[in-house]
Amino acid sequence: MMTLEQIRALVKSEFENTNQIILDRLQSDVVLVNQVGQYIVAAGGKRLRPMLLLLATKALKFQEDPKKSQSILAAVIELIHTATLLHDDVVDESDLRRGRETANSMFGNQASVLVGDYLYSRAFQMMVEVGEMRVMDVLSDTTNQIAAGEVLQLMNVNDPDVTEASYYEVIERKTAILFAAATQLAAILSGADQKIELALKEYGMQLGIAFQLIDDALDYAADTEELGKNVGDDLAEGKPTLPLIHAMENADQAGAELIRSTIENGGLDNMDAIMQIIKSTDSIAYTYQAAEKAVEKALNALSVLEPSVHKDALIAIAKLSLRRSS
Ligand code: IPE
Ligand code: IPE
Ligand code: MG
Ligand code: MG
Repeated sequence: MMTLEQIRALVKSEFENTNQIILDRLQSDVVLVNQVGQYIVAAGGKRLRPMLLLLATKALKFQEDPKKSQSILAAVIELIHTATLLHDDVVDESDLRRGRETANSMFGNQASVLVGDYLYSRAFQMMVEVGEMRVMDVLSDTTNQIAAGEVLQLMNVNDPDVTEASYYEVIERKTAILFAAATQLAAILSGADQKIELALKEYGMQLGIAFQLIDDALDYAADTEELGKNVGDDLAEGKPTLPLIHAMENADQAGAELIRSTIENGGLDNMDAIMQIIKSTDSIAYTYQAAEKAVEKALNALSVLEPSVHKDALIAIAKLSLRRSS
């Protein structure tokens, strides 16, 4: 199977264009916008979503046009993602992101919220430049769904009665839909027919679901240093994610009650005991299995694409997402 290095090499020049566009378009005459924007962008990030868009356009044999539409849209997707991270870390009161202090710890909540808005609106200016109504249609719906997903999740915080179905609705809206937009936009740009457009959208959606499932498993199972985010954030917040929902359902009565009260109150006081329950109920394995099923669906969706090295790369990314540690 292809490595991440080999996958990156397939879209090297478009990827460099994308990174340059992101840096250029972060610029503002307002100093603090530049500071916060540079700070979060320079910290890196995997750039997974723009990579998916670029690979999918290539799998559809789309050539970079003189306007560089595909690199611009890849940058738009990454800017939207970055805006959601700035807002998300305020809401989640997180203090570590991409291996550094979060923007909110560094510059404060106000600056993070406002610069997040700046990035959102800049992304919208850029997508208008591409000049395709269908692109604007998809991206405006996508950002609206992300916002609703984050609000829905806020309503679920501290609620131990959140069901698996409600959890899945949150992760589809807050995370998967942006992956789906990235791959669907590739089809729209390439002028692909509806069958291919829907298949690529489904690939992105299922991959995004798997990605968030793994993220939620890693919040209990990863190493903070490697992850670049603090492990245990979800428990501290009282966020009912799948590992916790499954553990609560499968624990004995005392265990279930401990999890219930920890979701209600948040905090890390019961971390060790809850880790034990998660372990004895195989809840991390259960979450990984759910992610594997989603990846399986993502791979099935790709069957409509002609064979190509770019298709192979899309397959490899989906499989690698199950093994990520950061
Ligand atoms: C983090 O996304 C937010 C989630 C949807 C879990 P990434 O893990 O893609 O973040 P970066 O961009 O690589 O930092
Ligand atoms: C990320 O959700 C989703 C969005 C940013 C919209 P999380 O809150 O689980 O992501 P991390 O763990 O902070 O990256
Ligand atoms: Mg968060
Ligand atoms: Mg998380």
